[in-house]
Amino acid sequence: PAEMVRVTPFLLVLSLALVAQGLSDRKCVLTGQWKNDLGSNMTIGELQGNGAFSGTYLTAVSMSPKILESPLLGSQQHTNQPTFGFTVNWTFTDTTSVFTGQCFVDDEGKEVLKTMWLFRLHADSVQNNWNATLIGTNTFTRLHRQKQ
Ligand SMILES: *[C@@H]1O[C@H](CO)[C@@H](O)[C@H](O)[C@H]1NC(C)=O
Ligand SMILES: *[C@@H]1O[C@H](CO)[C@@H](O)[C@H](O)[C@H]1NC(C)=O
Ligand SMILES: *[C@@H]1O[C@H](CO)[C@@H](O)[C@H](O)[C@H]1NC(C)=O
Repeated sequence: PAEMVRVTPFLLVLSLALVAQGLSDRKCVLTGQWKNDLGSNMTIGELQGNGAFSGTYLTAVSMSPKILESPLLGSQQHTNQPTFGFTVNWTFTDTTSVFTGQCFVDDEGKEVLKTMWLFRLHADSVQNNWNATLIGTNTFTRLHRQKQ
């Protein structure tokens, strides 16, 4: 019984360590449908062998009254929880967005994309360049829960 008392906490620590290890090894896959904290939707297609991907972005927020689904083009690194970047070529304005981020598996085993973006407005002249770029963050989760 004295032995049990010493062994049990050790096994608990070991199993917690294995669970934590398991999550950081889990693979996060960009392909699929995502939604972000603003209600925007994004679909990313199959990855090419070199990590390049394309997809579509449907924003929930815009400075223009009209919103259309717009194409995106990006690439990712080859790791289990990869860093990535993509450009959105907005089809309904003369503006451009670039996103960069990382695909994580969180503590609950759910995939999450943590991103930062730059949003480039069209300035009329170089004198108006100074205030033409906005910066922000977005967190994406799967639009539909993946089958495990
Ligand atoms: C994103 O998709 C959901 C589910 O299909 C839909 O309810 C929502 O309106 C979409 N968002 C936009 C900005 O279209
Ligand atoms: C970018 O958007 C423009 C304007 O809508 C469109 O003509 C062009 O084909 C798009 N290019 C890419 C690479 O998506
Ligand atoms: C940026 O500042 C210029 C004045 O330098 C102003 O005319 C313009 O409307 C501003 N643009 C934005 C997007 O606020």
